[in-house]
Amino acid sequence: MSYTKPNLKSKHYDNLFNSLPSLEGKTIAITGTTSGTGYVAANACGKLGAKVLLLNRQSERSVKSYESLKANTPNGDFIRIECDLQNFNSVKESTKNIEESAIEGLDVLCNNAGVMALEDIATVDGYDVQMQTNHLSHFLLVKLLFPLLKKAESLRGEARIINHSSIARKQPSKNLKSAYLEKNGGNLGGNGTSIMGGARWLRYNQTKLANAAFTAALHHKLSATNLNIKAIVAHPGLAETDLQTTTVKDGGMGKWITRQMMKLGQSREDGALGILKSIADSSINSGDFVGPGMGGMFSAIKGEAKAYPLESFYDNEEVRNLLWSKSCQAIGQEFSIK
Ligand SMILES: NC(=O)c1ccc[n+]([C@@H]2O[C@H](COP(=O)([O-])OP(=O)(O)OC[C@H]3O[C@@H](n4cnc5c(N)ncnc54)[C@H](OP(=O)(O)O)[C@@H]3O)[C@@H](O)[C@H]2O)c1
Repeated sequence: MSYTKPNLKSKHYDNLFNSLPSLEGKTIAITGTTSGTGYVAANACGKLGAKVLLLNRQSERSVKSYESLKANTPNGDFIRIECDLQNFNSVKESTKNIEESAIEGLDVLCNNAGVMALEDIATVDGYDVQMQTNHLSHFLLVKLLFPLLKKAESLRGEARIINHSSIARKQPSKNLKSAYLEKNGGNLGGNGTSIMGGARWLRYNQTKLANAAFTAALHHKLSATNLNIKAIVAHPGLAETDLQTTTVKDGGMGKWITRQMMKLGQSREDGALGILKSIADSSINSGDFVGPGMGGMFSAIKGEAKAYPLESFYDNEEVRNLLWSKSCQAIGQEFSIK
């Protein structure tokens, strides 16, 4: 089952792109660049002169999107690196290749990839497929690539870690629960599809809350060091990407209702404004939440991306500690920021 996208026009992308500085000399890794916001961000970074590491699982989509990026920006420096976020071993393997391509350090790690409202299944590592893809593997990537981020910071004065959250971070629940970060894949409530609290959506909500809480914890820990490594979180509003297509195919949303809902959203280019601004705009600080709005549903679904403060329902000691300890337990490694 597939749904037909409404084909929305971009309103703000060109303005933002034209305001961004050159990224020459920088190495930028982005997860999930085969479509959607990751593709747009990779394309923009390539045009702005960065070396762009494309972290994707192996697929035809990965090959085709690489070819499309090369065709759009023939001088772009794009490097494909295999990284399947459903598998911790694949993430570990990918970091060896990233090290070879980022000898002078990694200026930006943009943890963009994600899946939404999929069935209640476990990864090969035993975690919820959504939580491992959207958060736990990104936590592992940050831990393993931290020395490369430090290297870029020492050579060029700054590095950035960007996580991609969502309006869904605060609905249906604002409470991060440890069960979703533990080895409970396949046993996390079943396949209810109600967007108001069905189990598929509650699991997605927990992953997007984890993205924000991870940023808050990173920001807090980095602020206690002398490192100029920025922890930033972005959200795309409601953006017309392949995210909804994948969810419809998996049975998480009906195709008619998805099309009606997406008519209220924005183009994938405008959806990428938050991560692109977080990657490249010099005015963005550590601890910023960058997106079209933070308040009620309607102010947050589309528009120019602006910087807002982190929110107290995850930026507090209890949630930051829960997120960090459970994520370290899942990846089987300690992670100290120093
Ligand atoms: N679109 C929205 O309205 C919206 C709203 C809020 C938040 N977001 C967030 O925005 C981010 C980007 O999503 P999108 O909207 O651009 O959707 P998208 O077009 O579906 O892109 C998702 C990307 O993640 C990749 N991915 C999925 N599973 C992966 C895995 N196991 N290993 C490596 N890569 C994997 C996909 O690659 P494959 O080709 O391998 O599947 C694809 O490149 C996500 O974190 C999502 O939660 C989107």
